[in-house]
Amino acid sequence: MNDAPIYLDNNATTKLAPEALEAMLPYLQEQYGNAGSAHLLGRLAEGAVVNARAQLAGFLGCADAELVFNSGGTEGLNHAIRGVFEALPAKRHFITTAVEHSAVLAIADWLKRQGVAVTLLGVDREGRLDLDELAAALRPDTALVSVMAANNESGVLFPMAEAGALARAAGALFHVDGTQAVGKVPMDLSRLPVDLFNLSSHKFHGPKGIGALYARRGLRLRPFMLGGGQERGRRGGTENVPGIVGLGQAAALAGQELEAMDGRVRALRDQLETGLLARVEAIRVHGAGAGRLPNTSFISFQGIEGEALFLKLSDRGICVSTGSACSTGQREPSHVLRAMGVPAGEALGTVRFSLSRFTTEAEIRKVVELVPELVAELRSAGAMGRR
Ligand SMILES: Cc1ncc(COP(=O)(O)O)c(C=O)c1O
Repeated sequence: MNDAPIYLDNNATTKLAPEALEAMLPYLQEQYGNAGSAHLLGRLAEGAVVNARAQLAGFLGCADAELVFNSGGTEGLNHAIRGVFEALPAKRHFITTAVEHSAVLAIADWLKRQGVAVTLLGVDREGRLDLDELAAALRPDTALVSVMAANNESGVLFPMAEAGALARAAGALFHVDGTQAVGKVPMDLSRLPVDLFNLSSHKFHGPKGIGALYARRGLRLRPFMLGGGQERGRRGGTENVPGIVGLGQAAALAGQELEAMDGRVRALRDQLETGLLARVEAIRVHGAGAGRLPNTSFISFQGIEGEALFLKLSDRGICVSTGSACSTGQREPSHVLRAMGVPAGEALGTVRFSLSRFTTEAEIRKVVELVPELVAELRSAGAMGRR
């Protein structure tokens, strides 16, 4: 493999933006103070945290004080969901969807073991949420409704404004997992009926291991980690100053790049889909009939294993992801495709391509050229095997 890798797995993680790295470097080198120290280096670090918080708040349309820096998406989900049930012990019902990230589903299982009733809402064939089903599921003892803004596999967008309005009308709090949507579609929390919202920096060209939780002003959120009172007592532990600075810078850049996401990146994604649909028979783009992220394409290739295509692409330096997960040594269709009602055989033939603002047209042309060849090879090998 001589060429540079072609990276089309941006929903898993993204390349660090050079500007974010540059902003972080001083805080990894000479300005290494603890943001809680009152001396010169401490104050410089604290100033950097204040600045990054303002950058992120400006990007999201919220107040600086409504943001808690943390270690990323998984921590934000745990803090938000478990925090609500700890704060509202009289309310014992949780509503979420069957297609959430595995972290939410694991938390839902944990809540069940604590005696909380859990409702998992389904989705239709295109991956869309049914708001009538949500309305019917709400109960007087529903503490929290939690939905993702965008699905990590299919890219399908959920109607946050409508779902939040229903939750609030029923007296429930509303949480949104914004991990996949931030940096890909506009997000203005000042206009959304959202109480809690979490994000992760490495999904939008910031560093890994840093994220934030938005908690609406007035919401009494229990600390996720008891400690030294950092983050207004909501998350103990010395602040990850370089990470926070990188996150702030990545957020500011993401704000400037939203137009390119909706324009250039969407056009490249569409070029990929149109090219493959024209050249490969018996394929299906999941969620194509729904509102989707502009960077995501989740495609089933009938008659082949997605894993086999994934490996062939990987051998040629093309990084994608599959629509299956390995559990107990066997490949299982993803829970998202299962919830969408995709037959297991078809689901196992699914590959996800996820683009970023660093994706080039030459890369997409190369993939559109190569994938049909590889699919044909795999299909004929499969046909030989069946003879
Ligand atoms: C929708 C969604 N939520 C949460 C997470 C977890 O984020 P993190 O990797 O920052 O813990 C991910 C990461 O894949 C995700 O896609």
